[in-house]
Amino acid sequence: MSEKTSPASRTRVGLIGCGFYAQNHLHAWKDLATEGADLVAVCDRDESKARAAGEKFGAPWFTDARKMLDSVALDLVDITTRMDTHLELAALTSERRIPTVVQKPFAPEWKDCVAIVETAKKHGAWLAVHENFRFATSMMRVKQVLDSGTIGEPTWARLSFRTGFDVYKGQPYFYNEERLVILDVGIHVLDLARVFMGEVERVSCETQRRNPKVRAEDTATIMMRHTSGAVSIVESTYEAKRSADPFPETMLEIEGPLGSIIVSKGEVMTVTTQGLSFEEKIGAPLLSWTTRPWHVSQEAVRNTNLHMMQALRAGRPADTSGEDNLKTYALVEAAYESAATHASAKPKA
Ligand SMILES: NC(=O)c1ccc[n+]([C@@H]2O[C@H](COP(=O)([O-])OP(=O)(O)OC[C@H]3O[C@@H](n4cnc5c(N)ncnc54)[C@H](O)[C@@H]3O)[C@@H](O)[C@H]2O)c1
Repeated sequence: MSEKTSPASRTRVGLIGCGFYAQNHLHAWKDLATEGADLVAVCDRDESKARAAGEKFGAPWFTDARKMLDSVALDLVDITTRMDTHLELAALTSERRIPTVVQKPFAPEWKDCVAIVETAKKHGAWLAVHENFRFATSMMRVKQVLDSGTIGEPTWARLSFRTGFDVYKGQPYFYNEERLVILDVGIHVLDLARVFMGEVERVSCETQRRNPKVRAEDTATIMMRHTSGAVSIVESTYEAKRSADPFPETMLEIEGPLGSIIVSKGEVMTVTTQGLSFEEKIGAPLLSWTTRPWHVSQEAVRNTNLHMMQALRAGRPADTSGEDNLKTYALVEAAYESAATHASAKPKA
């Protein structure tokens, strides 16, 4: 951005929910000060978390979101609480017409996702979802290669997030979720499938609960027919036992009439086109505040926040606007429907 120091070009950001994953958002917003972001308020209903974030990141802190919204002038609110609070919090920001980014998943149920989008629309409020996988450096590079036509129009893909990393340690509430792996991480991979292969006509899914301590499905194998005629397989599991665990990277293979793109562990991309292959080590950068292996996910948060700020300033919707994210959430719903009915399902959006 060119006018980094002009006050008019700066974006005053308030963040609600200073928990586990929000630490990445807080670091990213501070990091983006060079791009014009000013973290001016933080809020958590747990006073100790609000105070800790406020002190660490140098922002006034609040325990009541309403109070924060009514007392601080904000250009953007970043909601990083869990999904069950998004409907209520996004209504508070939309009513005040404050542009808002909501962490994924949008909400626990389809009707609440739609309600969040409709409330924002009613008030003319800008709304986006923090769907960060598509903003990971490696995934943006894959999209670039695809768009260059190197492998032609993609016809087949496998995208997989298979890990045995102890995700329950940082997010112990996972044990008790009613819907787990598809809604938590499958949603990211489904979003990538849309980005790379286009919209979807029908979805088939098989789920498994392989860890008996977990209430919901921890493994999902999804097959989709895209409107282009392409077919994709989307896999997600928290029960893979493998020596070289790729967490939190997405592995993928995309095939087209002229060649293929393969991304393997270490964010290594192999592109084959008309019989010739080249390899590229993409690699998410290790930022001052990121640590391996999470840096792959953490730097995507920074990229996502930057995208949000740039889209907002340009007066356009984010690539992952509320309406766009309904299309991804519709794939989640269709996958659960298919797993329950043992038949393929059509996405609702
Ligand atoms: N994009 C990713 O890669 C990624 C990774 C991990 C988590 N997440 C998402 O981040 C979100 C948060 O997950 P988490 O594990 O950090 O949860 P968490 O429970 O650690 O943090 C949530 C925080 O929100 C606070 N909170 C709840 N309601 C509030 C309210 N009304 N006002 C103010 N504060 C409130 C809680 O006190 C808590 O501190 C989830 O939606 C999760 O899916 C995304």
